[in-house]
Amino acid sequence: MSTIHVLPPLPYADNALDPVITAHTMGFHYGKHHKAYVDNLNKLVPGTEFADLPLEQVIAGSAGKADKVGIFNNAAQIWNHTFYWHSMKPNGGGEPPAALRQKIDAAFGSLDGCKKELAAAATTQFGSGWAWLVLDGGALKVVKTGNADLPMTKGMKALLCIDVWEHAYYLDWQNRRADYVNAVLDKVVNWGFAADNLG
Ligand SMILES: [Fe+2]
Repeated sequence: MSTIHVLPPLPYADNALDPVITAHTMGFHYGKHHKAYVDNLNKLVPGTEFADLPLEQVIAGSAGKADKVGIFNNAAQIWNHTFYWHSMKPNGGGEPPAALRQKIDAAFGSLDGCKKELAAAATTQFGSGWAWLVLDGGALKVVKTGNADLPMTKGMKALLCIDVWEHAYYLDWQNRRADYVNAVLDKVVNWGFAADNLG
């Protein structure tokens, strides 16, 4: 009996992030794209060494293996999208919790400095990918990854992410990726989730 991967529920209503991310985008992004990664993985893993493994072990075991790229891409994209939905909340933005704020100030000088680095990573990621706030050896860093790649394959702990695949913003923002990213950071980013991930 293989492990069946499931599409986790959205942590809020599909229109809760409107107008930054509309229900129209959510219907495709969560309802079609995220769901397709789950459906694809459930077709790919039966009969393989990954059949009985939880998602994070599928990701770790397939990362960097040329003959496992389909399994890695779908598994990582399931994880990335679940993490992305939780990286946002209605009426987000504002001030991070104190413990996170101290680490942000130490790494970036100010909250604004942190948001600027995240926005720069998100807008300079060439093609599809992700911008991340991560914990790397005890310090905060901003990194970007291409396609399905994610911090855990580089030994870093993800705290927060922004999806910059075109499917994340094109219906609402067309080509204005920077406007989408800045709206996320100002209005819906979930600093509490990032603080929880500090552990
Ligand atoms: Fe996406």
